Amino acid sequence: MVDQPVENLSEDEAWAELARLARQITRADEAYHRKDAPEISDADYDALKRRNAEIEARFPALKRADSPSERVGAPPAEGFAKVRHERRMLSLGNAFEADEIAEFDARIRRYLGLGAEAPLRYTAEPKIDGLSLSLRYEMGRLAQAATRGDGETGENVTRNARTIDDIPETLEGAPEILEVRGEVYMAHADFEALNARQAEAGDKTFANPRNAAAGSLRQLDPKITAARPLRFFAYGWGVLSDPLAKTQMDALDRLAALGFRISPLTRLCDGPDEMLAHYAEIEQARSTLGYDIDGVVYKVDDLALQARLGFRSTTPRWALAHKFPAELAWTRLEKIEIQVGRTGALSPVARLHPVTVGGVVVSNATLHNEDYIAGRDASGNPIRDGKDIREGDWVQVYRAGDVIPKVADVDLSKRPERAAPYAFPTTCPECGSEAIREEGDSVRRCTGGLICPAQAVERLKHFVSRGAFDIEGLGAKQIEMFYRDDSLRVREPADIFTLEERDGQNLSKLKNREGWGDKSAANLFAAIDARRTIPLDRLIYALGIRHVGEVNADLLARTYQTWEAFETAMTNARVDEGPDWDYLLGIDGVGRVMAESLVTAFQQEAERASIDRLVAHLSVEPAQPRGQVDSPVAGKTVVFTGTLEKMTRAEAKARAEALGAKVSGSVSKKTDLVVAGPGAGSKAKKAAELGIETLDEDAWLDLVGGR
Ligand code: IVH
Repeated sequence: MVDQPVENLSEDEAWAELARLARQITRADEAYHRKDAPEISDADYDALKRRNAEIEARFPALKRADSPSERVGAPPAEGFAKVRHERRMLSLGNAFEADEIAEFDARIRRYLGLGAEAPLRYTAEPKIDGLSLSLRYEMGRLAQAATRGDGETGENVTRNARTIDDIPETLEGAPEILEVRGEVYMAHADFEALNARQAEAGDKTFANPRNAAAGSLRQLDPKITAARPLRFFAYGWGVLSDPLAKTQMDALDRLAALGFRISPLTRLCDGPDEMLAHYAEIEQARSTLGYDIDGVVYKVDDLALQARLGFRSTTPRWALAHKFPAELAWTRLEKIEIQVGRTGALSPVARLHPVTVGGVVVSNATLHNEDYIAGRDASGNPIRDGKDIREGDWVQVYRAGDVIPKVADVDLSKRPERAAPYAFPTTCPECGSEAIREEGDSVRRCTGGLICPAQAVERLKHFVSRGAFDIEGLGAKQIEMFYRDDSLRVREPADIFTLEERDGQNLSKLKNREGWGDKSAANLFAAIDARRTIPLDRLIYALGIRHVGEVNADLLARTYQTWEAFETAMTNARVDEGPDWDYLLGIDGVGRVMAESLVTAFQQEAERASIDRLVAHLSVEPAQPRGQVDSPVAGKTVVFTGTLEKMTRAEAKARAEALGAKVSGSVSKKTDLVVAGPGAGSKAKKAAELGIETLDEDAWLDLVGGR
């Protein structure tokens, strides 16, 4: 067939041709790079790429997300290409008890300023126990499928998703851009048949349908995925060029009309009573569904209200997962072991005789802390009727969702005669330093600091973990090896960045070690180099300072914006003294405990020197101020005071934050704007004294475009 001149192509023809070219080029790439067996000549290959580029140049809007022009060769055989989600894929808040549902409803009413009698409807549908997938359709065609990953970046599994029957390749009458989100899962019968086939072939079997679904979707060879019967339920959406509907229920119906399966157990409920009734119905049906569900998801039906409610850091305010009760099993506790964490915490772990709990084999469970083992809570009140836990005990284990298994109960009638109360160590089992419990702390901690190898290794593991430096090829296993390797020693984060240089001077080179070669060593050094430039929030998180998790690190980064500003403020701040301390404590979301932890970390000499050695190897990317940059209040510190009439305080705060403002509870010289409603008192007065701009609620709404 002779190609039409590009200038004669209609948009539809161009679209179809780009899709065909993408397929052909991908296929050729694979044959060449992965299988080392080219299927077409180099000249033909070049012609395909040239034509693709010409069509893209004439129709830039049609350029595919997986355009071959953006690609050099096939994606690396080691893994999938990364996809950044334009709208984050979030998780859900959990509830376990019935009264939490009424609280959920009350919380939403409070936030929206709705009275108890105002109508407020919710959808209720099963929570499918699989893995979430985002499907991007452009002009009605499936352009990309991505896993959730960390919510911001997932993996491109488009070719695998195309093999799933429930996922339409094309849609009739869909918005131009439509991201459909839902759950991929495997039915029980298919899971059992798959495991039987695997066992027969001598291949590994899967612990449960969810693992089987995840393992099947994340196959590098789509032919393997195609041979594994996966299914898909749609439950929501991401980016949209036009709204689907005005309510959640209508939007789901629209998705159903477009050809997606939505759960037939989805219902509209008028309030907590109906939600609980439907929960009971779904729980009843659970054993007959033929696939795993682990709870019920409630969502506010009115999409305009969903938009007002918005999100907390990782979960929507307008939805809740009501989980089914955890599954339980009894087994023998063989031994109690102590693990020493990154911050020196001594954590007791129960080594169990393996037992299946809800389809998963469990052989370890957390025992929390020494009080928990002794049978009391943090205030000294008895738990489990005061029964303590001993080695040799017969214990009840449970799993709630994804979390680490826990020990719930002890059967005293089965306690071996010689079992003695557990003596919690008062020295660190790893370094022998004293382990102390500070007043008010439920945890005993090793005082060895950086001399404690367990703490050092855990800090390094944290440093390279996903939300931190996330260095490819440098995971927990490699950290253990480098830490213990005397010639290549990596004892603190800075050592990672001198590894290549030191390896160059070393006689027993990394590439000659067991499990390493030329290529893997070179890849590791390249991956380390790639991280010499690092965003500020990741760096702050990677430092592993107590109480500074990913969310707080992000908050600090967006507040101080540059490493220099952050470092100077932390160095100068003294607990309870001076403007740097006041500013730190004034950041909405920073509490006293975290502020003290930060300031102490920067004051400790050894720790401080270790941070300086690290930063000398890095170029730190500044952070954006909170929210979008082009709002009139981005980066400003706002204080709300008095009564607001058009919205609740919580909503005002969340909206201001979404526009990039920082909301503070008190007026100081750093305040940029005060929004004062009727009854505003001392704060408005102070603002006037300091000459800070003060607006009433209407003027504020005008400013942020909310009226
Ligand atoms: S809604 C922003 N609905 O549960 C809200 N999630 O724990 C996004 N899931 O990552 C989720 N069934 O993978 C929603 N009917 C359902 C669901 C569901 C299963 C999964 C989903 C999500 C996880 C959150």
